[in-house]
Amino acid sequence: MSHRHSNSVPQSVVTVLMMLAFWAFAQTPATIKEQLTTPERIEKSKWWPTDGRAGKNEYVGSRACEQCHETIVKSQSLHSMAKASIPAESSDALRDASGQSFRIGEYEYKIIREADGTFHYTASSGDKSVLLPIKWAFGAGKVGQSYLSEQDGTFHEIRFSYFATLHAFGVTPNQSLQPATSMSKASSRPLTGAEAQRCFGCHTTASTVGKHFEPANAMPGISCEGCHGAGSRHVTAMKAGDFDAGVAGIVNPKTLKPVDLVDFCGACHTTWWDAIRIAATGVANVRFQPYRLEGSRCWGNGDARLTCVSCHNPHQPLVRETRTYDSRCLSCHASSKQSKPAADKAGACPIGKEDCVTCHMHKYEVPDMHYKYTDHRIRIVKAGEPFPD
Ligand code: HEC
Ligand code: HEC
Ligand code: HEC
Ligand code: HEC
Ligand code: HEC
Ligand code: HEC
Ligand code: HEC
Repeated sequence: MSHRHSNSVPQSVVTVLMMLAFWAFAQTPATIKEQLTTPERIEKSKWWPTDGRAGKNEYVGSRACEQCHETIVKSQSLHSMAKASIPAESSDALRDASGQSFRIGEYEYKIIREADGTFHYTASSGDKSVLLPIKWAFGAGKVGQSYLSEQDGTFHEIRFSYFATLHAFGVTPNQSLQPATSMSKASSRPLTGAEAQRCFGCHTTASTVGKHFEPANAMPGISCEGCHGAGSRHVTAMKAGDFDAGVAGIVNPKTLKPVDLVDFCGACHTTWWDAIRIAATGVANVRFQPYRLEGSRCWGNGDARLTCVSCHNPHQPLVRETRTYDSRCLSCHASSKQSKPAADKAGACPIGKEDCVTCHMHKYEVPDMHYKYTDHRIRIVKAGEPFPD
């Protein structure tokens, strides 16, 4: 699923893009101008998620954090982010489907579990057939899962993905829905080196070390060091009782300004400017939460009460009970017209007193994902209105 990241855009698109960027720049509030693209963030910071600068030996893995941060390590391991990629051998979707076959167009696919627990698949049509290994599963599986194989040192994105809402396999998003015209197209799509590097950059930890893409070094999923930076200096200093060096040796995003903190999560979730740069339009951009959120009137000039972490603890699984988000809204909005709003409060709702997000953070289906994503552009949603870009 290479949703957000095609780099090979034609010149005409680039021109339109620049016009769009200029338009967006002219339209937007002051703080948007403080925000940056992820490549700019990386250039300006000592550490930024996905920067790939730290050396291989500077990473210690989340096990090394457990001794002193046990609770966080336990709860974070349950977050989808920690499972954003897993070795194929650990995929439930593949295990449940092993031995079964399914069709896409004229091709039949079969998932095969070997005695040692690894997976292969076959793609066949008539008397032609190929057998290929499945190496990685990307996506925790709550929404869906895509698979990578490695052939002669090149990563390939397999043509089928698992869709949780369908309980079935279908065409991988962003691959052509047209019938495959050859066996090679029916089996997988080769990734360029840069594309594979980006995929791993957002879905694994320490896949790029010392600026070199080393997928063999990747730790599955986003673990501690994917956000806090490589941990060896911190661990060594803390073990030696050198508290100051310990604190200096690790990044705590808590100290970032609201605008910067949203861009921080946007390193993988797509910042406002990243979204403009890839000219994302239409309902697919509901997946770019920083872009959507910062387009809300609530965001104003940026506010610590409305960063990603004010609603989502990055160390704990996503909270599904919608009512628990009310307190976030009411940290700014008055709860009723009667109560005289404090000076720092925004207006009250004339309609609802609780469960705010069910009406004001609408869910939209992204067709090729077969899933309804939450629109982070908080607003009054009018019946029948088109999706606002
Ligand atoms: C030997 C004990 C020890 C180990 C191992 C350890 N830490 Fe810490 N860590 C501490 C102490 C002590 C503090 C400071 C106390 C506090 O703020 O909770 C701290 C604070 C932190 C902070 C906040 C820093 C700040 O500026 O306030 C982060 C982030 C952090 N640790 C991440 C990690 C990560 C990631 C790992 C594993 C790579 C790790 N720690 C391993 C002892 C440890
Ligand atoms: C290094 C990349 C990366 C960074 C940085 C990152 N995320 Fe994520 N995040 C992901 C990926 C990949 C997923 C998809 C996980 C999956 O496969 O379902 C995800 C999923 C999520 C989810 C959905 C969880 C669920 O169960 O559906 C939330 C919420 C989230 N991230 C919040 C954050 C917040 C808050 C921050 C900033 C503090 C952040 N992320 C930073 C990569 C990242
Ligand atoms: C710029 C960072 C980034 C890159 C590059 C990236 N992903 Fe993702 N991916 C994410 C985030 C963040 C999510 C979390 C879901 C969301 O917000 O849409 C995600 C979700 C997914 C999902 C689960 C579906 C879902 O919406 O939760 C799959 C499967 C997936 N990605 C596969 C891939 C594959 C395969 C590649 C490379 C071809 C790739 N991704 C490249 C950031 C990235
Ligand atoms: C998706 C990004 C992300 C991941 C992954 C992540 N953290 Fe954090 N961590 C944060 C952010 C953001 C903060 C600041 C939270 C805040 O402002 O409330 C933080 C804060 C902390 C703190 C300081 C707590 C405090 O109150 O200041 C510690 C300690 C910590 N993290 C440890 C860990 C450990 C250990 C892991 C791995 C098990 C981990 N983190 C994984 C984003 C992350
Ligand atoms: C005002 C609260 C709020 C803020 C701020 C917020 N979110 Fe969410 N987020 C939600 C709610 C509510 C859901 C849906 C929970 C559910 O129904 O499962 C959600 C769901 C998600 C999901 C799961 C996929 C989906 O579309 O349902 C991801 C990923 C996510 N948020 C990332 C982020 C990121 C990144 C930021 C910062 C740009 C952010 N969120 C800021 C409230 C918030
Ligand atoms: C950081 C403070 C803050 C937070 C948190 C916040 N809002 Fe707002 N919101 C505002 C401000 C300021 C406005 C501008 C209008 C006003 O003054 O009432 C606004 C406007 C709105 C509007 C009207 C939008 C329009 O287009 O006219 C709605 C609806 C709304 N907020 C709902 C919510 C909901 C629901 C939540 C929680 C998910 C929330 N807000 C969280 C500050 C906030
Ligand atoms: C049942 C759906 C529903 C729920 C639940 C709901 N709202 Fe609303 N809200 C609306 C509608 C519809 C409007 C537009 C009313 C109008 O314009 O006449 C609105 C308007 C608003 C406005 C704009 C008020 C103004 O004067 O412009 C704000 C702010 C707001 N809601 C915040 C919230 C908050 C905070 C909560 C949770 C405590 C909440 N809403 C719960 C449906 C809902």
